[in-house]
Amino acid sequence: MSLSNPVYVAIDTPDLEYALSLAGRIAPYVGGLKLGLEFFSAHGPDGVRAFADFGLPIFLDLKFHDIPNTVAGAVKAAVQLGVGIVNVHAAGGPAMLTAAAEAARGVNPRAKVIAVTVLTSLNQADLLAVGQIPSAGEQVLRLAQLTKSCGLDGVVCSAHEIAAIRAALGDDFLLVVPGIRPAGSALGDQSRVMGPAEARQAGADILVIGRPITAAADPVRAARDIANSLGFVMA
Ligand code: C5P
Repeated sequence: MSLSNPVYVAIDTPDLEYALSLAGRIAPYVGGLKLGLEFFSAHGPDGVRAFADFGLPIFLDLKFHDIPNTVAGAVKAAVQLGVGIVNVHAAGGPAMLTAAAEAARGVNPRAKVIAVTVLTSLNQADLLAVGQIPSAGEQVLRLAQLTKSCGLDGVVCSAHEIAAIRAALGDDFLLVVPGIRPAGSALGDQSRVMGPAEARQAGADILVIGRPITAAADPVRAARDIANSLGFVMA
């Protein structure tokens, strides 16, 4: 695990001014910024470029899931924006995953391509509703193995699946973990959650944290408290 702050704050808002001011205030207390579908649908590539000045790595979380040729083109365009991490859905299958990894490497070999396994908002009943019989844990492991075999850098998973993935795939595989909830914060739509320190202890490389910071009465304080709880002591 790296010694840098593992928290990437999820800036989930369509309001560019607010997003920039929030990121500016929180930047000293996090290790990266995550921009996702809500923000990108409103502001596109120019919106992403507006965050370059913070000097923090950006995870562009657009979760591509389409035919290989389309995903390769989308990944290429995303990496060209200068972001550090992009992602696709592992359920897109081997050809799509391989195409995504190759497309990113062609632009910037240092950019990380990771795959979403099973969304952390889905519980067992939700998985059955879409015809997925294996448990979330089994499905996550299957998709993580597929992702690694296709040459990607890691996966998005819940904290509860970290141990099984580490045991099967080792330490050289980036585990990016949303569904992080410090004690006392609201679950919202998340299901498979864990606290920040516990998730880090379990072996998460990156903790994606949105509403526990951005919807807090004092987002700066919330980000600082989380950093402190992870051993990054800040005034
Ligand atoms: O507000 P909260 O902490 O739940 O935000 C989690 C973030 O992580 C959201 O931006 C969501 O899109 C993202 N995410 C997730 N589950 C995944 C992949 C990404 O919650 N499997």
